[in-house]
Amino acid sequence: MRIVVGITGGIAAYKAPELVRLLVKAGHEVRCAATEHALEFVTRVTLETVSGHPLYCDLFANNERSTQHISLKDWGDMLIVAPATANIIGKVANGIADDALSTLLLAFSQKPVVMAPAMNSLMWAHPAVQRNIETLRGWGIRMVGPAEGELACGTDGIGRMSEPSEIVDAALSSSHCPLSTQKWLVTAGPTYERIDRVRFIGNYSSGKMGFALAEALAEAGAEVELVTGPTHLDINHPHIHVVRVESAREMYAAATEAFPQCTGAILSAAVADYHPAECADHKLKKQGDEGMTLQLVQNPDILATLGGMKQQQTLVGFALETDHELENAQGKLQRKHLDHIVMNSLRDEGAGFGVDTNKVTILSADGSRKESPLMSKKEVARLIVNTITS
Ligand SMILES: Cc1cc2nc3c(=O)[nH]c(=O)nc-3n(C[C@H](O)[C@H](O)[C@H](O)COP(=O)(O)O)c2cc1C
Repeated sequence: MRIVVGITGGIAAYKAPELVRLLVKAGHEVRCAATEHALEFVTRVTLETVSGHPLYCDLFANNERSTQHISLKDWGDMLIVAPATANIIGKVANGIADDALSTLLLAFSQKPVVMAPAMNSLMWAHPAVQRNIETLRGWGIRMVGPAEGELACGTDGIGRMSEPSEIVDAALSSSHCPLSTQKWLVTAGPTYERIDRVRFIGNYSSGKMGFALAEALAEAGAEVELVTGPTHLDINHPHIHVVRVESAREMYAAATEAFPQCTGAILSAAVADYHPAECADHKLKKQGDEGMTLQLVQNPDILATLGGMKQQQTLVGFALETDHELENAQGKLQRKHLDHIVMNSLRDEGAGFGVDTNKVTILSADGSRKESPLMSKKEVARLIVNTITS
C-alpha cells in the first residue's frame, strides 16, 4: 500500500520515524508530509532517510512544478497523521488549509485518513478539541488513541500518542472499515401527517439518533441510505445518501424500495401510526362553537413490512416506551421479526426526543441484552452499530 505519513508539531513527533520504519518494513511505500512546527521536533534528514523520499513540507516550494498536495493525494492510498496536534485537528475540522499538510488533508477527503492525537490532557479535554474530534470521526476519519500515561509535560493523564506499532495495527487492520462492502438503511426523525395546507400531526423527534446512527455506520465503512422525516439536521458524508420525506406513507415507500439492496436496516424514525382520512387542499376554517372530529386512518407499518420482506438481512427497531418498557420491547421484537430492538424509556432523564444524550437497552433475538449508561447519542450510535454488526 502507498501510505502518506503526516507529522505535526507535538513532542511525540520523535516517534514518527519509528512509525515510518515499521510501515516500510511491512512492505508499504511511504512518503512523509510534515508541518513547519514538526521539524522543531524531528529532522527532515531523518524523515527522508527512513521513508527514502523527499519530505513534503512547503506548499509553495516544490520542484516538480505541480500541485504536490494533489499529486500526493492521488499517489496515496491512506494518510496517517501521527502525532496529530490539537492545531491540525482543529484546522481540518474547520476546513482550514494554510500549509502543506492541512491542504493535503482536505484534498484527501475521499480516502482513508487515520489520526493519532497527542497532547496535554487539558488540551485533549477542551470542548473545542472534543467537538473537532467528533466532527472528524463523523466524516469517517479514524482516531487511534490517545493513550493514558506519563505525558511530556511531567503529568499523568490521557493524551499520550499511541505506540507506533499500535497505530500501524489499527490503521491496517480490516476493522478499519469492517462494513465496507455493506449498505444499510436508516430511518430518522418524525413524520408529519397533513390535516390541511398549513397544519399537520407530528411528534417531537429531532432525528439526532438516526443521524448519529447513519454517521456511525458510515464511519465503519458502510454505504448508508438515510431516509429522514422533517428535521433541521444536515449531514455531509460521501457515503451517506439522504432521502427527505414528510409523511409515514412516503417513508414507507422509500424504506421498502431501499431495503432489498441493503445488508440491514435500523429504523429509528418516530413514525405516526395514523394519518387524517382527508387532507384539505385549503386552510380549514373554524366552524361555529362546536368541537371538531378528525377521522384517522392507520398508516402502513414499516417495521412489520420489512420484517416480512427480510431475507438474510439484519433488522433493528426502536421502542420508545413510557411504561412496561422491557415487556413491550420484547413483544415488538418477536411480533415484527426483528433481530434487535433498541429500547429507551422516557422515564430515564436525558433519554428520548430532542436531547443530545440517550440511555438504551439493546434486546436481541438470541436472548442477549446490553444496557448502556447515559451517553452522547454519537456514543450510543457506535455501541448499537458494534452490537448489531459483531
Ligand atoms: C515543547 C512543545 C511541545 C508541544 N507538544 C504538543 C503536543 O504534544 N500536542 C499539541 O497539540 N501541541 C503541542 N505543542 C504545541 C504545538 O506545537 C502548536 O500548537 C503548534 O502550533 C502546532 O503546529 P502544527 O499543528 O502546524 O504542527 C507543543 C509545543 C511545544 C513548544
